[in-house]
Amino acid sequence: MEDRIRLFRPAFGDAEKAALCDTIDSMWVGRGPQSIAFEERFAGFVGVSHAVALNSATASLHLGLLCAEVEGQEVLTSSMTWVSSTESILLAGGRPVFCDVEEDTLNIDVEDMERKITPTTRAIVVTHYGGQACDMDPILDLARAHGLTVIEDAAHGCGGEYKGRKLGSLGDIGCFSFQATKNMTTGDGGMMVTNDDAIAERVRKLRWCGITKPTWERFRPGQLNRSWVYEVEEVGYKYEMNDLAAALGLAQMDRLEQSNLRRRELMERYRDAFADLPQIAPLAARDFALSSCYNAVIRVDHRDELFAHLDNDGIDSNVHFYPNHLYKIFRPYTTRLPVTEEVWKKILSIPLHPLLTDSEQARVIDSVRAFVEGAQETSTHAAAG
Ligand SMILES: Cc1ncc(COP(=O)(O)O)c(C=O)c1O
Repeated sequence: MEDRIRLFRPAFGDAEKAALCDTIDSMWVGRGPQSIAFEERFAGFVGVSHAVALNSATASLHLGLLCAEVEGQEVLTSSMTWVSSTESILLAGGRPVFCDVEEDTLNIDVEDMERKITPTTRAIVVTHYGGQACDMDPILDLARAHGLTVIEDAAHGCGGEYKGRKLGSLGDIGCFSFQATKNMTTGDGGMMVTNDDAIAERVRKLRWCGITKPTWERFRPGQLNRSWVYEVEEVGYKYEMNDLAAALGLAQMDRLEQSNLRRRELMERYRDAFADLPQIAPLAARDFALSSCYNAVIRVDHRDELFAHLDNDGIDSNVHFYPNHLYKIFRPYTTRLPVTEEVWKKILSIPLHPLLTDSEQARVIDSVRAFVEGAQETSTHAAAG
């Protein structure tokens, strides 16, 4: 019996184990030196002035939307995203306005977005679907013209680029996820990046209960003028990253470039392998984007049958995503999104992660081809009968 082929797998090794052990041995596992080092390195990597380590991208989106002051205001977003991205708008008191997506990338349709701007629009949340950039230039032009804050949901986009600039650095605020399936993972974790000093300062307070001076800054070894005193200026949240996660994050950063290269190689191989099958349409690759290739999505008729077929062959697959505007919680904000409502029925994510071997990928490809050929045979027989 061959091993099951998983959709995603974290790439961990001795470096991650050593980083965790060293942090445990340091006896400081809350937010401290690892988190600070991770923030500095991540900010440099993305090319921004501030990175604020949090416990999830959801926290980053929530705090980003609070800073954008969306309460009672409209926030443009796509529906083809993870539900916490759109839930964050509700958490921050905003009103989600769902926009359609491009059929071949699943990224937000800029023309639909432009049509939906009103005097009460305050912000835009764009998800770089699968780590491929949305077309940011027209989005940023619209934002400038209408005074809107742009929040990039770069949960899938670690290492991805738009016209040579790293995802997360293009809008006002970028939100990254280090959740278990992501290109780099800390189990759970997130990072907000920004060039705005005031936003960074506010988020640093909001992430830990509104407290003005973190424990590490008051009590770190060697700290002069130790003091237990701090102020609480605004109601905050328990959203900060701890040093165990940050130590993992630093070790994962060492792997990111190599793992993204492997992801891109695997993605190209899927494209080549399905090029002669009109029934299987991978998402399109845009020239302006260097994708981080978080997931490999194909569009296929009879998607649920292919899901069952792959499952039967010991291969995991999944649907990213169910259109958010159709969930019960969004009923007050629902709208017709013709492309989203059609394309979601066809999309299937097939295995893609840096540990996927060539022979495992060949098994996935063979299984998809067998499904297509089987379906062809059935329809030929049906036509003959
Ligand atoms: C597009 C998108 N946005 C946001 C998130 C939330 O990330 P986290 O789990 O770190 O909160 C995810 C997680 O899967 C995601 O896929």
